[in-house]
Amino acid sequence: MSEVLLSAKNLSVRFGGVLAVNHVSFDVKQGEVFTLIGPNGAGKTTVFNLISRIYTPTGGEIDYLGPKGMVKLTTQPPQDVASLGIARTFQNIELFEHASVLHNLLIGRHTHRQTGLWQDIFFTSKAREAELLAREKAEEVIDFLSLQHYRDTYVAGLPYGVRKVVELARALCTEPKLLLLDEPSSGLNVEETDDMAFWIQDIKNELGITVLMVEHDMSLVSKVSDRVLAMNQGEVLAMGTPREVQADPGVIEAYLGSIDDVTSLRREAASPGASDSEQRMGANTP
Ligand SMILES: Nc1ncnc2c1ncn2[C@@H]1O[C@H](COP(=O)(O)OP(=O)(O)OP(=O)(O)O)[C@@H](O)[C@H]1O
Ligand SMILES: [Mg+2]
Repeated sequence: MSEVLLSAKNLSVRFGGVLAVNHVSFDVKQGEVFTLIGPNGAGKTTVFNLISRIYTPTGGEIDYLGPKGMVKLTTQPPQDVASLGIARTFQNIELFEHASVLHNLLIGRHTHRQTGLWQDIFFTSKAREAELLAREKAEEVIDFLSLQHYRDTYVAGLPYGVRKVVELARALCTEPKLLLLDEPSSGLNVEETDDMAFWIQDIKNELGITVLMVEHDMSLVSKVSDRVLAMNQGEVLAMGTPREVQADPGVIEAYLGSIDDVTSLRREAASPGASDSEQRMGANTP
C-alpha cells in the first residue's frame, strides 16, 4: 500500500457560531488524486486553509510527510508551508495582473529560493545559479502546460481559462509534493474543463505529484480522482471511489435536500450517460 503523505485527524474549526469543520479525518496517499466534494458552505475551502496554514484548527491536527520526515503541519509557521512542498491554487484566481505569465511564474518560484538577501543583493554566483534554475523551471512548466504562446503576455490581457492554467503553472514552479487545487474547473467551459482533466492526470502520472482537489464538476471528479471525500455542513458524509461516493444515500440527500426528491427526479430521468445524482451535482456548480 502506498505511503500516506498527509493525515488529517479530527480537524475542527469554529468561526463564531459556525462550526465550519467538525471532526474531519482523512488520509491522502502519495501519488493519488484525492477530491473533496460537497455543497456550498460544506467546509471544503476551510480544510484547504487549514492545510496551507491560513487557519489554525480549534481541534485536531495534520501530519505531513515533509522533506525531513513526518511533521505536525498544524504547528508549522505559515511561511514554511511552501518549503515543505505544498502549493495551491485558489477558488478565485490570485495572480499579479500587471506582470507577464513568465514573471508570475518566477514570483511563484521565489518561495523555493535557497539564497539569502545579501546573496541576492550582491548577485553572488549562488544567487545567479538560483536565478538560472528558476528560469529553467519556469520554462519547463510553460512547455509542460503548453503556455508558450502566452509566455510574455500580461495576465490582465488573458482569457479566464488561460489564467486558470497560469495559476496551475505558478503552483507547479515551486516543485510541490502536494498540490492543492480549489475548484480547478470553476468558470471553465466544457472544452477547457476537459483540458484541465488532462493536465491533472499528467501532473499525477508524469510529474508524480499528489493532488488534493476541491471540485463541483462531477464528471471531472470521476475522471481524475482515485478517492473522494464528501462533506456536508463541516462533517464527513462518505469516502470511497467516485462511484461509491456518488451512490451514497447521505451524499445524494445533501445535494438534493431529501431522498424523496431523488425519487421524483428519477422519474424525470434526463440525459443518458450520467446518473441523476451526477447531473444534480453538476447542476450545483456555481
Ligand atoms: N473566515 C471565515 N469567517 C467566518 N466564517 C467562515 C470563514 N471561512 C469560512 N466560513 C464559513 O465556514 C463555512 C464553510 O465555508 P467554506 O468556504 O469552507 O465552504 P466550501 O465548502 O468551500 O463552500 P463553496 O463550495 O461555496 O466554496 C461557511 O458557513 C462559511 O461561511
Ligand atoms: Mg470553497
